Amino acid sequence: MTAGLTGVSVSAMPLAARMPGLRPSEIRKALMTWGRPGLISLAAGIPAADSFPADRLREAFNQVLRDEPTLFLQYGRTEGYQPLREYLADRVRRVGLDCAPDQVLITNGAQQGLDLASRLLLNEGDHVAVESPTYAGALETFRQYQAGFTVIPADDQGLRPDVLEGELRRDRAPGGPGRIKLLYVMPNFANPSGLTMSLERRRAVAEVAARFQLPVLEDDAYGELRYQGTQLPSLAALHPDAVVIYLGSLSKVLSPGLRVGWMVTPAALVEPLQSLKERSDLHSATGVQMAIMQVVADGFLDGHVRQLVGLYRARRDAMLDEIAGCFPRAVRSIRPDGGFYVWCTLPPAVDASALLGAAAERHVVFVPGRDFHPAGGANSMRLTFSGLAPELLREGVRRLAPVLRQALSADTQEGT
Ligand SMILES: Cc1ncc(COP(=O)(O)O)c(C=O)c1O
Repeated sequence: MTAGLTGVSVSAMPLAARMPGLRPSEIRKALMTWGRPGLISLAAGIPAADSFPADRLREAFNQVLRDEPTLFLQYGRTEGYQPLREYLADRVRRVGLDCAPDQVLITNGAQQGLDLASRLLLNEGDHVAVESPTYAGALETFRQYQAGFTVIPADDQGLRPDVLEGELRRDRAPGGPGRIKLLYVMPNFANPSGLTMSLERRRAVAEVAARFQLPVLEDDAYGELRYQGTQLPSLAALHPDAVVIYLGSLSKVLSPGLRVGWMVTPAALVEPLQSLKERSDLHSATGVQMAIMQVVADGFLDGHVRQLVGLYRARRDAMLDEIAGCFPRAVRSIRPDGGFYVWCTLPPAVDASALLGAAAERHVVFVPGRDFHPAGGANSMRLTFSGLAPELLREGVRRLAPVLRQALSADTQEGT
């Protein structure tokens, strides 16, 4: 006789208190639409499949497994493969980070960095200061630790340091709640807004955070993919007293499937973060890190990133050009300096998730904006240009345009 698990009813189980809030993310749903025949997905924020250096990686995996099978296959070090930590410590100098390799912790993608930092810093009921919209995967992680949110508005220069300061003053005043424990920011080409924080803003935000001793979680998952303008320094480089945990990732510039990201942390946080990672997964796959090191050791990544920048810039431009040509004027979109996304705002009464059905009838899909906001934000949507060739992006935008026109004309009629 065999016993199956299919009959188990989860609803009858006493799950952890934090579980009821967990629901499938829009991002996961978006990823599942990828590759459906005939469907143009402007939803999935994934790298261009034909950009992966598969041949190089195959050779690298073969070589490291042949040359150092025990190191490749044995349990490894929680903090990561030392040569890769050294390489990354050197690479982050480009964003002004002067750190020792020991301050680099290799993670399973930047996503694990979000999780480890949350576990390190957040208690139930604490607040994370965030922009709205912000990365839905970060909001979900913070929520998992039962955190709430204090929204700090942003303008075209980025997050407003004056508002951050006001919130912190109220929060830390005698008798105040004292619950803002972390600031989460994406200074470069944020997911989903595409916004980049100006140098002045970075300085001002780092100064406020340092003055209030508020730890900053700086997510730079897209930092290397800049299509115009010059690279700006990390917040960590702009104030000596700011406590910044910096997150990097190879997902967008090499491969997300390899699951390699990293944290750069103040020296005092290395040990506690390492202990948290050990409890979670012991360590990231050593063989993957060895193969990556083999690929990047000769400077390959710089040329590869240059190619990606050319590829994605053309895709961004195609999408923006088509949007300008055929979306209704009342739909506002942001031109990103880099990254993967174009963020669109619809008139306040239009709920973007209600348009998914009409969009699906025209074989196009996008991510409605609600999940990127701690609250509200239904009148927004995220379009992604990274994964498709320019002509498909243009076609996707053209398919979406009548859906928007119809929703907007219904909105106007209701309003009259
Ligand atoms: C802003 C941001 N941070 C982190 C991640 C997670 O990336 P990784 O694949 O490195 O875990 C993503 C993925 O899309 C992202 O957009």
